[in-house]
Amino acid sequence: MPNGGSLRITTRLNSELNLVEIFIKDTGVGIKPEHRRRIFAPFFTTKKVGEGTGLGLTVSYGIVTNYGGTIDIETITEEEEKKNHGTTFIIRLPVYKSKQGG
Ligand SMILES: Nc1ncnc2c1ncn2[C@@H]1O[C@H](COP(=O)(O)OP(=O)(O)OP(=O)(O)O)[C@@H](O)[C@H]1O
Ligand SMILES: [Mg+2]
Repeated sequence: MPNGGSLRITTRLNSELNLVEIFIKDTGVGIKPEHRRRIFAPFFTTKKVGEGTGLGLTVSYGIVTNYGGTIDIETITEEEEKKNHGTTFIIRLPVYKSKQGG
């Protein structure tokens, strides 16, 4: 969020689908349509040299999928909608019951 904004993280149990859902929602600049398909690719970054490696989302994707989860995004830029711009990452992780019942 180069121009400031708020970041809200919420979680909920989706007991119907047996998933934990994590929403990471910001009111930042959003992700441009032409970048959306590339953000999980290693070394893809729109930051200046020295500011970002382009590995943050690649690593996040690897961790989440290793746990059998998924990451989805909803994003809207200021050009698309002046007021409600920002990005939400939605992580869904499967819930496993331990044998001890804990
Ligand atoms: N919440 C977000 N809002 C707007 N753009 C985002 C957001 N998250 C990621 N992006 C875009 O996706 C690109 C890739 O993100 P990623 O986290 O993989 O790398 P980075 O943030 O550029 O660098 P690093 O995380 O390695 O420091 C970013 O450069 C940015 O263009
Ligand atoms: Mg990053």
